[in-house]
Amino acid sequence: MTGAVEASANGLAASGESGPEPAATWAGPLAMLLRTPGVTDVLVHRPGEAWVDKGLGLERVEVALPDADAVRALAVRLAAAGGQRLDDASPVADARLPDGNRLHAVLPPVAPGCAAISLRVVRAQALTLADLAAAGAIDARTAALLARIVRARLSVLVCGATGSGKTTLMASLLSLAAPHERIVVIEEAGEIAPAHPHVVRLVERRANVEGAGSVGLARLVREALRMRPDRVVLGECRGAELREVLSAFNTGHRGGMTTIHANSPGDVPVRLTTLGALAGMPAAAVEAQAAAGLDVVLHVARSGGVRRLTEVCVLRARSPGLAVEAAWSLGARGRWGPGPAWEELLSVLGEAADAVA
Ligand SMILES: Nc1ncnc2c1ncn2[C@@H]1O[C@H](COP(=O)(O)OP(=O)(O)OP(=O)(O)O)[C@@H](O)[C@H]1O
Ligand SMILES: [Mg+2]
Repeated sequence: MTGAVEASANGLAASGESGPEPAATWAGPLAMLLRTPGVTDVLVHRPGEAWVDKGLGLERVEVALPDADAVRALAVRLAAAGGQRLDDASPVADARLPDGNRLHAVLPPVAPGCAAISLRVVRAQALTLADLAAAGAIDARTAALLARIVRARLSVLVCGATGSGKTTLMASLLSLAAPHERIVVIEEAGEIAPAHPHVVRLVERRANVEGAGSVGLARLVREALRMRPDRVVLGECRGAELREVLSAFNTGHRGGMTTIHANSPGDVPVRLTTLGALAGMPAAAVEAQAAAGLDVVLHVARSGGVRRLTEVCVLRARSPGLAVEAAWSLGARGRWGPGPAWEELLSVLGEAADAVA
């Protein structure tokens, strides 16, 4: 363990009773990197170096973590700061740090030779649609369309590749929900921070070392329905909890949102049926429930260091199967325009606005 790491570990112990401490206390040599403007990810998997994403892909930087013990000690300290145990009996942690950033850490031997630390910088405040427009993620007309989608309480599925900006876009949309609405957000590690006065958070709990006490996402979605939600939001749907989400969205819980990993809108049907299979759902049941319960698919993608919304799609039952068709999309010259399902989106928006009114 390095002197720096030891000093920080002492700092954590000393400040444990006095509430959240500054990142410098527990993030050790990574604290400066996490504070650097524009940094979205800080990754360590070998002594002496970190990989940092400032928007243009990963860049290597040197850090004062001289050996694998120092990396391990840092991983353990970060997990402790996030309220999680990380040791031989429990070698994987997924946590939210006191500064809001998200931690994933794996110890050897699961990560052979050296602990692997993945830190995702999460904004303390959600970006507004105007911020997204200023960053080049959307244009003004698209921002107005998204605002209509939220106000009409359509159910939204945000899809994209890993790190493409799905969670960020969803938090921005939730910030537009009417202030009187009660939003219940279910997550693996709390990271969604909408600018909204009434957000109830439920965070998954993993089993303890005896294998007891887990409270999973599927259960939390069911619990959320009993909490008088106006919107049920699942941070990321990547397993059997799809069954509960589809069930919620099909039983009168309008305005819900979730995200899934899919490289294109066209991949969404297969992704949904694959997740449904994990819950024992036949493909036809997933397709029927998705077509009825999900109104809009928003696809985000990252290219040239910029994260952008690229398509607003509607889901439509097809016989057989499910189709995701573009209603509003970003063209080759960077201009947005209507797609084949534009009229259908307008009609869904019109019906929904009537229902809300
Ligand atoms: N339009 C944007 N402009 C600038 N930064 C953005 C934008 N969208 C997202 N980011 C930043 O990029 C990082 C990744 O975003 P986000 O967590 O939303 O992606 P994700 O697709 O949900 O990732 P994952 O696949 O890990 O769930 C975050 O640090 C976020 O603040
Ligand atoms: Mg995400």
